[in-house]
Amino acid sequence: MGLGITSGKYTLAGTVAVGMLAAVRFDKPAGGACPSGRTREAIVAKKPVRWGILGPGKISRTFAAGLQAADGAQLAAVGSRSAPRAAAFAAEHGFNRSWGTYEDLAADPAVDAVYIGTPHVFHEEHTLLCLRAGKHVLVEKPFAINAEQAGRMIRAARENDRLLMEAMWTRFLPTVVAVRAMVAAGDIGEVRMLTADFGFRAPVDPHSRLFAPALGGGSLLDLGIYPLTLASMLFGEPVQVSSLANLGATRVDEEAAVIMQHRGGELAVIHSSLRFDTPRHAFLLGTGGWIEIMFPWWAGTRLRVKVGDRDAEILERPHRGGGYTHEAEAFMELIRSGARDSEIMPLDESLTIMKTMDLIRDQWGLTYPGE
Ligand SMILES: NC(=O)c1ccc[n+]([C@@H]2O[C@H](COP(=O)([O-])OP(=O)(O)OC[C@H]3O[C@@H](n4cnc5c(N)ncnc54)[C@H](OP(=O)(O)O)[C@@H]3O)[C@@H](O)[C@H]2O)c1
Repeated sequence: MGLGITSGKYTLAGTVAVGMLAAVRFDKPAGGACPSGRTREAIVAKKPVRWGILGPGKISRTFAAGLQAADGAQLAAVGSRSAPRAAAFAAEHGFNRSWGTYEDLAADPAVDAVYIGTPHVFHEEHTLLCLRAGKHVLVEKPFAINAEQAGRMIRAARENDRLLMEAMWTRFLPTVVAVRAMVAAGDIGEVRMLTADFGFRAPVDPHSRLFAPALGGGSLLDLGIYPLTLASMLFGEPVQVSSLANLGATRVDEEAAVIMQHRGGELAVIHSSLRFDTPRHAFLLGTGGWIEIMFPWWAGTRLRVKVGDRDAEILERPHRGGGYTHEAEAFMELIRSGARDSEIMPLDESLTIMKTMDLIRDQWGLTYPGE
């Protein structure tokens, strides 16, 4: 076994360094070890984590399916503003404990951790409710509407000694785990630029979560956060941010373009849109090659890697449970180990990303009600 890339496949952990392909190490695509190196068997042997779902909407449905594929997870209860909606969600997912208020769910002694799947504007309120009731909290992206809210959420997690994490599921996908390992190993040299986008043609409805200011509408917070968080993962906090957006009839950003420069001069060029489809891939451009996280990059299973003068190679990195299982398993492993923060999606980084989005919105004059 010599080259990292041979016959279209990156070899797994233990690869011998050859040229720029120094020691490529990452988890096996399925059934492998978790980031801590503990085996799945070791985790399964532990008590299941009992999950409560708060806000049984679109993404909660998808996440619940991801949980059902996760080792050591138990879907225990759901809370909705409507008792019949909660009961229907529970029945759909094969359990029967449902609550007609979020407060009842938060107080449920049969729940260890709550997944918050409500629109962004409610993330702070619902996170505080659950943390104060003693639950660990996995809160959907974006973490909050602004950095002020994010700061209060982080303080509450610390005061209540509970685990809190932004559900930035992309970071836990096997593709992104592999990308991190390749970058750390210097496989494509020094990464100097990221170009990434996320846009799709959403039905224009001024009352919908995507377009209504009262629900935190706009492309940046919903979609642009994905490339932004990828830039943050690669380069850290930006030192300079330039951006432009077109605000639509409801005065939220329907399309946005952002260029950022980072401490080492690295550039990130990203765009997001609610009005048209974008190619939806991410390119990491390095001095020794490039990596494409292929469509749909934030949820994908394939990478295209070009090192030096070699032909580009396609790497398959399948995910489980629609991609949502990986973040759930990582979160449960943190709970079991007593951790109060994630090294993969740290709270301080969620806060910094919120600050960057505050700055970008400031450049456009976009504020949300109550700000
Ligand atoms: N990770 C991902 O892939 C992903 C994908 C899509 C969305 N998201 C994130 O997940 C969050 C929810 O998105 P979604 O598309 O699932 O939202 P959604 O279906 O529109 O709403 C989710 C649920 O929130 C509850 N809710 C509470 N107050 C509400 C209010 N005033 N108006 C509307 N709903 C309210 C509702 O449940 P009850 O009324 O039954 O309590 C609703 O079903 C957003 O922050 C979004 O950014 C993440």
